[in-house]
Amino acid sequence: MGNELDDFVNELQEQIYEETRNAYGELAFERWLHMRFMGSMENPDGYARVTGKCGDTMEIFLRFEDDRVKDASFLTDGCGSSAVCGSFAAEMAIGKTPDELIEITGDTILEKLGGLPKEEEHCAFLAGETLQEALSDYMIKKGNRKWSMTCDGKE
Ligand code: FES
Repeated sequence: MGNELDDFVNELQEQIYEETRNAYGELAFERWLHMRFMGSMENPDGYARVTGKCGDTMEIFLRFEDDRVKDASFLTDGCGSSAVCGSFAAEMAIGKTPDELIEITGDTILEKLGGLPKEEEHCAFLAGETLQEALSDYMIKKGNRKWSMTCDGKE
């Protein structure tokens, strides 16, 4: 009896995996199974927290070295798609300069994933928007540092 139940559960799990893979594509499915770049970061150089229209929130953390992203991570309280999109936003950000980061948007995340179901495309836009806000945060801090250096010479 126990075995039959195990078989049933395994079959059900396989079925769910298959449906998920078909709906979201192999890349998103694999990332959902093996999530990467999820977590917070202490004292990031660029940080943003954005709540989308759906009510879900995304956070993105960026660490720069020589004006390139050395490390990136994300957190979200949203759906599986938002986690996948946040994860790819972080992955795509690593190694990029600010000029290159500007190119990473909801559209490029969707392109990378080969699309998402229509009703979940906004998850990619939330990730793209949060990344752009984190970049702005970095640029503002960087600008302020320059500003304070020329104005009071303390830096
Ligand atoms: Fe809100 Fe996916 S449903 S981010």
